[in-house]
Amino acid sequence: MQNFTYYTPTEIIFGRGAEKEAGRLAAKWNAKKVLIVYGGGSAVRSGLLAVIEAELDAEGIAWETLSGVQPNPRLALAREGVKKAVAFGADLILTVGGGSVIDTAKAVAIGAANPDTDLWDFWTGKVKKPEQVLPVGVVLTIAAAGSETSDSAVLTNEETGTKKGYGGDFVRPKFAMMNPELAVTLSRYQVACGVVDILMHTLERYFTPVEGNHLTDEIAEGLMRTIICEGKKVYDNPADYDAMSEVMWCGSLSHNGLTGLGRGKDFSCHKLGHEIGGMFDEPHGATLSAVWGSWARYVYRQDIARFARYGRKVWGIASDAAGDEEVALAAIRRTEEFFRSLDMPVCLGELGMGVQPEGVLQKMADSATNGGTVKLGSFCPMDAADMVAIYQCANHV
Ligand code: NZQ
Ligand code: ZN
Repeated sequence: MQNFTYYTPTEIIFGRGAEKEAGRLAAKWNAKKVLIVYGGGSAVRSGLLAVIEAELDAEGIAWETLSGVQPNPRLALAREGVKKAVAFGADLILTVGGGSVIDTAKAVAIGAANPDTDLWDFWTGKVKKPEQVLPVGVVLTIAAAGSETSDSAVLTNEETGTKKGYGGDFVRPKFAMMNPELAVTLSRYQVACGVVDILMHTLERYFTPVEGNHLTDEIAEGLMRTIICEGKKVYDNPADYDAMSEVMWCGSLSHNGLTGLGRGKDFSCHKLGHEIGGMFDEPHGATLSAVWGSWARYVYRQDIARFARYGRKVWGIASDAAGDEEVALAAIRRTEEFFRSLDMPVCLGELGMGVQPEGVLQKMADSATNGGTVKLGSFCPMDAADMVAIYQCANHV
């Protein structure tokens, strides 16, 4: 087991009516002026935004809003948010939404506390760490990205078509209200994207070269069995409160670090997916299901026994007659079948972007590897040529 630090400071209020704690929690953090960040309107239509505003009013806390966050959240809106937060004198950023909204709020929290530094300089690594960060609170409306407890924020620079993650423990939200009922208005497509993302956050930590983490393995396998079973239930019926509760809780635990303790993470599929999201504005979960099978077939020989364990422990593939390689390949097939059962794409041709010319695949690989200067992932470190090869495997209808 590798050394690790486990730091999950987010106070979680889970269950029906959780959003009604917004005022109390903001007051607990001594907030006097809150910038509420939300997306394209689902929180307005459901009446949730009005509830949050009323809760802040009841505590005598002033608020303003930043609206219009889009999926694959844009740098320009985050910059606008920084200006708004500074002008208002915000001392807490409260998000009402999912990963895109939370990540924009995290960016605003960094930018508003460091207004002399251009926001993107943090994301490119030009500036390593912010001096300070405003506190962020969350009202979660979709089980997916896990940003409500995670240490990262993913932004898209729309001028360059580059999508990048950045972070550290300093961006972990201070509190998160998680009411599974709020997710009932999600489209089935968004539910499916979320389920894929949650499974992927654990898979990206399950396949690493570090062995001998029995407890972490068991936690990860239990989480994956749960998201596969409950994720399908909630896709079939988004109003299934109990199933949505399981899925929402899986979402947080899948990406707060727990499922990778003692062995780090890989995250090369996320890199492959972020290039697609940045260039073609495809939904995050769909970019992951579209490339995972191609990644897995490209790398499984690196550790066939690990893939076989995944097949046996997560998919319950009977092992008596089958050898490890057979089980490993069956596990990859079963994962893709699961994605298909959620009507998620398993190749580039099933995404809106469609099949792409070779030059585009190369461009995405170059961008992800900083012009071929870095390798991605830890399970089977990949250079730009490996990435192109994986994109090629996925580049069909
Ligand atoms: O904008 P509105 O109108 O609210 O609609 C949103 C949006 O269109 C809708 N939605 C959310 N809750 C809803 C709802 N519609 C109806 N009812 C509700 N209750 O869902 C759509 C997608 O929202 P988004 O926030 O984009 O979803 P998600 O949570 O999947 O976030 C995806 C983003 O998070 C990033 C992804 O790359 C992507 O940009 N990620 C962030 C991570 C992190 N910070 O730790 C880790 C992840 O790996 C991921 O990269
Ligand atoms: Zn993800």
